[in-house]
Parts: sequence; structure tokens; C-alpha cells
Amino acid sequence: MNQQKESAFQKKVFIETMGCAMNVKDTEHMLAELESKEGYKLTQNAKEADLILINTCSVREKPERKLFSEIGQYDKLKKKGAKIGVCGCTASHLGQEILTKSKAVSFVLGARNVSKITSIIHQEGAVEVDTDYDDSRYVFASNSSHSTLKAMVNISIGCDKQCTYCIVPHTRGEEISIPADIILKEVQKAVDDGAIEVLLLGQNVNNYGRRFSTEHTPMNFTQLLQEISKIDGLKRIRFTSPHPLQMDNAFLEEFANNPKICKSIHIPLQSGSDKILKLMKRGYTQDWYLQRIRKLRELIPSVSIGTDIIVAFPYEEEADFLETMRVLEEVRFDTMYSFIYSPRPHTEASRWGIQVNAEEALNRLIRLQNRHKEILEQNNAQEIGTVCEVLWENIREDGFLEGKSDHAKLVRAPFKNGLIGKVGYAQILDARRAYLIGEAI
Ligand code: SAH
Ligand code: SF4
Ligand code: F3S
Repeated sequence: MNQQKESAFQKKVFIETMGCAMNVKDTEHMLAELESKEGYKLTQNAKEADLILINTCSVREKPERKLFSEIGQYDKLKKKGAKIGVCGCTASHLGQEILTKSKAVSFVLGARNVSKITSIIHQEGAVEVDTDYDDSRYVFASNSSHSTLKAMVNISIGCDKQCTYCIVPHTRGEEISIPADIILKEVQKAVDDGAIEVLLLGQNVNNYGRRFSTEHTPMNFTQLLQEISKIDGLKRIRFTSPHPLQMDNAFLEEFANNPKICKSIHIPLQSGSDKILKLMKRGYTQDWYLQRIRKLRELIPSVSIGTDIIVAFPYEEEADFLETMRVLEEVRFDTMYSFIYSPRPHTEASRWGIQVNAEEALNRLIRLQNRHKEILEQNNAQEIGTVCEVLWENIREDGFLEGKSDHAKLVRAPFKNGLIGKVGYAQILDARRAYLIGEAI
């Protein structure tokens, strides 16, 4: 059979992925399983797919509300006989309700059940949403169809915190660390396939080692980082997200002193007000958070810090919001994801209702974001004249090289041969809010 005929008969899967990096990784895992065990090939065109997967997020209400209209759209455009499966966090928490509400859906696969993908596609009407299901030791098939320069590797599943606004513990279940030997093999495999950077994933990466599902020698996140960095050929390590509460000095020192760890870090603040942090059950105060940041900056003055912030949490008053603004002024975050509080089912805070009206909530979000834009411009302008380390990843349509610096800034530079896939240096000549302009040196 020639190649063309073979591809005409090959089953195709289309996957839409919403939400965080964990969902992106789950999509990679599902695709790898479907490719290697069921002979599927990825398509970007839903119309030609035999299988359409929607990998959902439920962290805020809006994307969840869109789910049923999306199912309707796929149902209209899909080819005859094609199946639609709903996966991810909304699948976990709505479960059977999805099948009841939509006849177009063939199966529902919760976020914690990704390893069951190759069996569920053959079970019409199946719902697999068990949040106690343990696939922490499941070794997924390898993925061949994405950029190999950067790899994502899960280090834990689920989350043990109970932040009062957050649905994730309900959709992904309790936290289990993946055994270190599996993680090390995954990183080694990625490096053998050409990766030079790894992004370690978990809802709470620095809680690593608290609970394994089978016997395991004691190991915390700092020790795991040390082990991973011994892998030859691996040049850069990133991770997301650490929790501010578990940022002890040993971890901060490892972060600062390990040359393979990129000097950019995402430290979710959520709120700057002690009253709100307590209501959120985050477990730290503004003072603790700032103390960690100061310690980090003492160790690495140029460190790049990102964060997540929620505004208009129940009982947030203007004075509380100003405390968040105060932290923004001191930390001057390089990246900031900010959201208006969205009440979620199964969370403690949802019982308190919405306390800040929509107009005021939007007003706070805009003030926060506008101030952050100014800070970002100033932060980026300070990079002019510096030299930074960059992993050159692609060539833009305008011919410029593009890559990420080790402190997570997007850098563009006029094309030079032989740099793609290499870690090199750039002299920064100019700056915009969203990227830096430099010259590869
Ligand atoms: N594990 C990470 C966050 C995962 S959820 C942490 O602890 O920080 C990603 C982000 O979504 C959160 O940091 C938070 O800022 C936001 N988020 C979560 N629940 C939310 C809600 N109910 N309303 C608005 N934003 C929310
Ligand atoms: Fe949600 Fe909190 Fe867990 Fe993050 S740490 S996933 S915000 S419960
Ligand atoms: Fe991620 Fe959304 Fe689930 S942020 S963990 S996909 S609810």
C-alpha cells in the first residue's frame, strides 16, 4: 500500500484543549496513546476527524458555559459516524450530566482518567470520572507529533489544598506524587528525543513527595530538582506552579544555585490582603509572601516573577484591593494573570455568593491590569543594554528569530543561521510591553 492510500484510511483525531498546562499535557498523553495503540493521527480539521475530543477546563464559569454550544457546533460539522468525547475538568465534575444534556456526546472522560482513553473510545455512553483513580504510575506512550525542544513532564496529579474558591481538588482529586524513577525516565526519554528544556508540572510542585501511592524513598521537590538536573543533555528546567507556603530556604537556594533551573518563577499571590488570604485559605499572609520574594531577590536580583491574582473575592473591600495593588507595586511582576472571582460549584466560597458587584469587580480588574501594563513597560525598558540567554525556537513570518530568555521574556532578533534549537545569547537593543528586541550574539 502506498503512503497516500495508507493516510486516506488512517483514523483521525481532532482535539480542542482549554485550560492550563496540565490539560495541554493530558492532551499530549491522550494523543500519544491514540496514535500508538489505536493508529490515530492528529488533524487540525474537525470536519475530517473520526474522533473529536474536547479537553475542558472548569476553573471559571465562562468556558464551562460555552461547552454545550461547542458540542452543538462540532455535532453539526463532524463527518457521519464520527464520535465526540468530552474530557478534562468539566468532564470530571459534570460527568453523566453531559450525556444527559447532549445526545451528540459518546463518552465522558474525567481529568484523572486520561490513561483510559484507548478503552473508552470503544464504549458508547461510558462515563469515567473517578477522582480517586490513580494513574500516577501509568507510563504513557511517547508522543511524536509536537516540538521536541521543550517537553512537559508531570510530577504529581491532583491537589491537596482546599483553597475556598477552587474547583481543581474536586476535578483532579487528592494529590499523589509520581515516583521519581518514572519522572527521570520521562525526562531522559524527552532528552533522547531532542528536548533541551523540561517544564515540570503539578498544581503544587513544591509539595512533591508528600504522598506516593506505593512505597518510595523520601524525596522532596528540592531533591527531585537535583536528580533531574543530573541528566546530561538537559539544559533548562522550569516548573509550574510552586505554592508560596512551601517555599522554604532550601528550595529557594536550590532554585538560585542550580545553573540548569531557569531564573523565572510563577508564584501565585491570589490576593495581597491578609483578610482575603485567610478567607481563601491560602495559608500565608502578605508579609510571608513578600518575605519569600525578598529572599529570592537577595539570592537572584534579576529573577523574573509571575503571578495569578483574583479580584472581587467575596468580602473584598477597596482597602483589601489596595493591599493587592501594594504587593504589585513592591514585586513588579513580569507576568500577571488576573481574573474576576467566579463562584464554582463544590467550593466553600460559592456558599458566600457574589459580594462585589460586577461593575466594581471590573473596575478593580482594569485598575490592576492597567497598572501592571505600565510596570511591564518599565521592567522591559530596563532590559535594554543587557545580555540574556535565549533558547531560539522559531522563525517568525517577518523573518525574525524568536525565543524565550531564561527569565521567560519573549525575545526577537534578526535571523542568523544555525541558531534554531540552540541556547545562545542576545544583546537587548529595544523593548516593547510584550517582547524584547535584540541581536543574537
Ligand atoms: N495550583 C495553582 C492554580 C491553579 S488554578 C495555584 O495554587 O496557584 C489557576 C488560577 O485560576 C489560579 O491561580 C487562580 O488565580 C484562578 N482561579 C482559580 N479558581 C478561580 C475562581 N473560582 N475564580 C477566579 N479565578 C480562579
Ligand atoms: Fe486550586 Fe489552591 Fe490547589 Fe491551586 S493550590 S489547584 S488554587 S486548591
Ligand atoms: Fe487546569 Fe482548568 Fe482543570 S486550570 S486543572 S484544566 S479546571
